[in-house]
Amino acid sequence: CGIVGYIGHREAYPIVIEGLKRLEYRGYDSAGIALFDGTDLKVSKTKGKVSDLEERVETQISKSGNLGIGHTRWATHGVPNDVNSHPHVSNSGDLVIIHNGIIENYESLKKELIKRGYTFKSDTDTEVLINLIEEVKTIEGVKLGKAVQIALNQVVGAYAIAVFDKNKPEEVVVARLGSPLAVGIGEDEFFIASDASPFIEYTKNAIYLEDEEMAIIRFHKGIKVRKIKDDSLVDPYIQELQLNLEQIEKGGYEHFMLKEIHEQPKAITDTFRGRLLRDEAIIKMGGIEDNMKKFLNANRIIIVACGTSWHAGLVAEYIFEDLARIPVEVEYASEFRYRNPVITENDVLIAISQSGETADTLAAIKMAKSKGAFVFGVCNVVGSSIARESDAGAYTHAGPEIGVASTKAFTTQITVLSLIALRLARAKGTISSSDFRRYLLEMEMIPEKVEKALESDAHIQEVSEIYKDAANFLYLGRGYNFPVALEGALKLKEISYIHAEGYPAAEMKHGPIALIDENMPIVVIATKAEHYDKVISNIQEIKSRKGKIIGVITEGDTIVRDLADHVIEVPDTIEALSPLLTTIPLQLLSYHIAVMLDKNVDQPRNLAKSVTVE
Ligand code: G6P
Repeated sequence: CGIVGYIGHREAYPIVIEGLKRLEYRGYDSAGIALFDGTDLKVSKTKGKVSDLEERVETQISKSGNLGIGHTRWATHGVPNDVNSHPHVSNSGDLVIIHNGIIENYESLKKELIKRGYTFKSDTDTEVLINLIEEVKTIEGVKLGKAVQIALNQVVGAYAIAVFDKNKPEEVVVARLGSPLAVGIGEDEFFIASDASPFIEYTKNAIYLEDEEMAIIRFHKGIKVRKIKDDSLVDPYIQELQLNLEQIEKGGYEHFMLKEIHEQPKAITDTFRGRLLRDEAIIKMGGIEDNMKKFLNANRIIIVACGTSWHAGLVAEYIFEDLARIPVEVEYASEFRYRNPVITENDVLIAISQSGETADTLAAIKMAKSKGAFVFGVCNVVGSSIARESDAGAYTHAGPEIGVASTKAFTTQITVLSLIALRLARAKGTISSSDFRRYLLEMEMIPEKVEKALESDAHIQEVSEIYKDAANFLYLGRGYNFPVALEGALKLKEISYIHAEGYPAAEMKHGPIALIDENMPIVVIATKAEHYDKVISNIQEIKSRKGKIIGVITEGDTIVRDLADHVIEVPDTIEALSPLLTTIPLQLLSYHIAVMLDKNVDQPRNLAKSVTVE
């Protein structure tokens, strides 16, 4: 999501609208704006893009005023529609807010407010927050800034917010915890935004709020930054912006793909947040709880997907069968839909799709539904066709993925699917409670470990430099890491146009081994696992044919280190969760090689982000 605001001597409307357009790369499915036109508060919002908002504003409100806030939303909960769009106005009609993030304890706060007579138009957590602020302001008789502060101290979750009171239109209050927020400082004017892209042509001076900080911005009077917890004043650091617009949109990274690779720790956390409750030792997923019987009585689970999502499906096959002991088949959607498969009412079909729009996957769902199967969607885009067509589902909360080569969508898909497998295993009793707890603990540590895996970047760059001119690559893995080998090869093909094949390590001797000579780089995923010894034998086979071995190994492993030409370490974890870590160096390897070969990383030739034709 993105937020934008302006207070100063100019007209706010064009600044907010243009700013929202700049933030659309963060994803959009609804947009809205609130303006103070000199006498009253005007709000306009709609589902759709910022251009849809512009059309709506034309017929709905006047565009004048020197104070305005706007929002573009990428839904992670709740279908995108007009009511759920931001801004949200308090019950009295005085206060207005835009918000990025989630308020985790909104249900209990909402109950309390309803008891006190508040009513709600939307299902959003944001509407709860603005009314909580209003309630505090009324009851305690404090100013807006103080009310925001008291309210935020009652809130659990993540936010970047901007709030104003139509009765005091010379002031805007902003705050941040977990979601970015920048304040651009001009001459007698202030800009508020999720990043500096909306105001870069107006000012080069910005304050980036830190977590748990809020700022009270007053026209003519300046800005005061405070700590939300203890109200202490902070001396803000005014940063001089060096980046240009394009660099800002990419978060300072050279490409969206690289940004998205680095976003994975957060994307994975966002995906298990609120679902993995370690203290209570439970996994809570609405779509599964409501349909538990369907899953437990299923003859088998059929997973359909395309491309990278299909690889996530293959990882899921291992974990579902391993932990939940439910038979699983994984199919390319395009094959499944045309091959007259045997489907019964006792089958559960899981469709995996980042975009939720892939034509073949959508058609496969429709076919399975017509034969009575229960369809469960795992999508990243809320309200997408596949999400709507499914009987139930669970979203990955990766945020928008712009790079055509999928990265964070893949790891968040594996995250969701692992949670489902664990939940079902618990329900079936195929996992002990101590193992279950161990998995929960380990899953919670994954984001930190991904962060650690990302630290190998410089080393991976060196390896990339050595092999960037190779004509072929082979990727090998066993068990849980066989699909990772496929995914690693796909990433390299997609963006560097180097031919690459992924293979099960032991299957290599039935064909690909003929390709091996001293010019052939072979990426072997050889982390500590049940069949580690077997992988070592496979490495020996390559070595005796003089292939160049790039090993992805568990931190501290010396055996493969001694055998391989290069090694890239990843932290140790439970084997079933290891794909979340072993994938990371493979993403970076393909990225660096593509950059070195001067390829268009974010938009590789012939490929599309979302394939809506069969
Ligand atoms: C395209 C994209 C791939 C993606 C595949 C499936 O080929 O380029 O990155 O994995 O479609 O897309 P979906 O949105 O269904 O996951």
